[in-house]
Amino acid sequence: MTDNTYVGAVDQGTTGTRFMVFDHSGQVVANAYEKHEQHYPEPGWVEHDPNEIWENTKAVTERALGAANLSADQLEAIGVTNQRETTLLWDADTGRPLHNALVWQDRRTTSRIETLQEEGKAGDILDKTGLEPDAYFSATKAEWLLNNADPIKTQRARPADVRERASEGEVLFGTIDSWLIYNLTGNHITDVTNASRTMLFNIHEMEWDDELCEEFRVPEEMLPEVRPSSDENYYGYTDPDGFLGEEIPVAGALGDQQAALFGQTCFDAGDAKNTYGTGSFFLMNTGNEAVTSDNGLLTTVGFQRSGEPVQYALEGSIFITGAAIEWLEDMTIIDAPAETEKLARSVDSTDGVYFVPAFTGLGAPHWDQRARGTLVGLTRGTRREHIVRATLEAIAYQTRDVAEAMEADSGIDMGALRVDGGAVKNNFLCQLQSDIIGSGIVRPQVDETTALGSAYAAGLAVGYWSDLDELTTNWQVDRQFEPEMEAERVDRRYEQWSDAVERSLDWSG
Ligand code: G3P
Repeated sequence: MTDNTYVGAVDQGTTGTRFMVFDHSGQVVANAYEKHEQHYPEPGWVEHDPNEIWENTKAVTERALGAANLSADQLEAIGVTNQRETTLLWDADTGRPLHNALVWQDRRTTSRIETLQEEGKAGDILDKTGLEPDAYFSATKAEWLLNNADPIKTQRARPADVRERASEGEVLFGTIDSWLIYNLTGNHITDVTNASRTMLFNIHEMEWDDELCEEFRVPEEMLPEVRPSSDENYYGYTDPDGFLGEEIPVAGALGDQQAALFGQTCFDAGDAKNTYGTGSFFLMNTGNEAVTSDNGLLTTVGFQRSGEPVQYALEGSIFITGAAIEWLEDMTIIDAPAETEKLARSVDSTDGVYFVPAFTGLGAPHWDQRARGTLVGLTRGTRREHIVRATLEAIAYQTRDVAEAMEADSGIDMGALRVDGGAVKNNFLCQLQSDIIGSGIVRPQVDETTALGSAYAAGLAVGYWSDLDELTTNWQVDRQFEPEMEAERVDRRYEQWSDAVERSLDWSG
């Protein structure tokens, strides 16, 4: 290894794809980003075009390297991180997707989940997978695709039933990590963290679960091989004909929220982070123990390095936070997200307005698939500033809902919470978050911790970084926020927030 070598990371998120290059000290040396189209074929349905995602991946990689004047042979390894749960099927012969990917936010399988609940199967699924059954996860999406993807589109001479072809290994299942790894290396692989979000994977046995595969009629032949998040055996090498003209080891992958946990160097039990993206995802490392939640949190795989035991995490998945700010923009209440800080600061309260952005139901800790967005407390005097402030407050209150559950489950009194993601550039939000959860908030210097985490996983596997201590030294504080608002005032408002949440529940019939 020389001084001018680096590690690259593909960060494939819900709204776009990023390629970043990091140096030894974990600093960003190249970065390019491209949005992709969101398809909403019916209310509550959300799809992405997997081909567009792959084309964008290639484009941002070339653009990032070109802009920084780097050549592909300077990359020692590539890591992958991705929006989790989003599900697709593709033809093993042609590599062509059979249908658009069903995005994690997609609600088309809600009634299937309700049937499972009515049949009393939810407890067993939770025990095996650590997941509260919900249309959010991949299992019911895969089942829907197997029932509905068009066999003709597979371009085969024999337009057999998709499920039958899948049981012969001719149709493959994947989350977005698998889709990218397959296109990069030709190998059908997923990592333990992404597998743990499918609702088909037993997180205690660390293997695909026969009974769950049977329940959702998912042939095991179509499932990817499950590998550590940082894999010294590498997932494979990039195909020089299809990607950058170079054979580069692809050696690390993590679902984006676990990647942020890793990038924030939350390596020990009790370490926690919250990432503010489309939604917010609050994860706490629980070490080698899979802690079961009594308070509506998920138990999930945090990460695994080659030859080492799995590290588990508790997770509070909040579906809509940053997307609520996007909604303000869509509704022309604001012109751009950056405006929210100034508008929210211009009033000293929401004047009694509460906004529960339950656009796609509510995740942790409420788990109500039929909850819907609710704006309460409006008066003739309500101004857009109040609504903007209520939106930022909703982000912070939802985090408190989860933080309280986290403390109750883990018994750990949380120290300062590490935060990252686009919205933490907003100082008002960080201060508000600290006030509302009543503890410190720490923002690191490198806030692209998702990409960084997957670069770390890949770089460790190829020996670019030697151990976790080296990564911990790289982590530096940008700014720490401490609570300033009087606790009594916060609690009073939080009570009203909880009342607003109650009103948003079980809305769509
Ligand atoms: O579980 C969904 C999550 O992985 C999506 O993250 O950052 O792409 O919105 P993001």
